[in-house]
Amino acid sequence: METPLATRPQKIADPDHEVLDLVAERWSPRAFADRPVEPEKIRQMLEAARWTMSSYNEQPWRYVVASRHEDPAAYKRLLHGLNEFNQKWARRAPVLMMSFYKTTFSQNGDPNRCAPHDVGAASAALTFQATAMDLYVHQMAGIQKDVVRETYDVPEDFEPMAGLAVGYLGDPDVLPPGQQESERAPRSRRPLDEFVFGDEWETPADLVSDA
Ligand SMILES: Cc1cc2nc3c(=O)[nH]c(=O)nc-3n(C[C@H](O)[C@H](O)[C@H](O)COP(=O)(O)O)c2cc1C
Repeated sequence: METPLATRPQKIADPDHEVLDLVAERWSPRAFADRPVEPEKIRQMLEAARWTMSSYNEQPWRYVVASRHEDPAAYKRLLHGLNEFNQKWARRAPVLMMSFYKTTFSQNGDPNRCAPHDVGAASAALTFQATAMDLYVHQMAGIQKDVVRETYDVPEDFEPMAGLAVGYLGDPDVLPPGQQESERAPRSRRPLDEFVFGDEWETPADLVSDA
């Protein structure tokens, strides 16, 4: 069932400098509507991940995907890979994913230092593709890596990275009180001059301190 527009928090960012609408509109909800995600839209999200840049074009990312409406048993298996806290809210998401990265380069077996970075980039691309289709993604570091490894018989040179809850926006009232507040709270970020440095560590670059 679709959640009425008025009850859905919008949480659009208030940027200091103009950004793409997709960047301003993306956020990580915990309340999802009980509305299936169209399989073609899931494929489009994964296609966006596919075209992400990566070190040596290794494409170290892998995803396990399950849709509650299409395959409830597979969905349940994926849900069990999340930690207890995340399972409680993520079980309402119609689609769950788990991201993984390959720790070594396929060509020579050397460690791939950038693999965690690249799976993060792929998940970011997937997330913005979702935003463009009115869908939302909430990533989760809170997973049970041992459970995930066992469930999917993950090879040694792959590492589970994060869970992803995907769906249309739902009504925050379904969440416990503390989570309702954060669901409605405005999004906040540190300013540019706290993380963009010039020629000295922790000294803001002129480019951002004068603006
Ligand atoms: C890699 C990653 C791991 C995260 N892990 C969790 C998590 O385990 N549980 C959770 O509720 N939120 C998790 N989050 C969501 C962040 O808390 C959220 O992105 C952050 O507060 C910024 O909010 P916004 O995405 O709505 O802008 C995670 C986000 C990312 C990108």
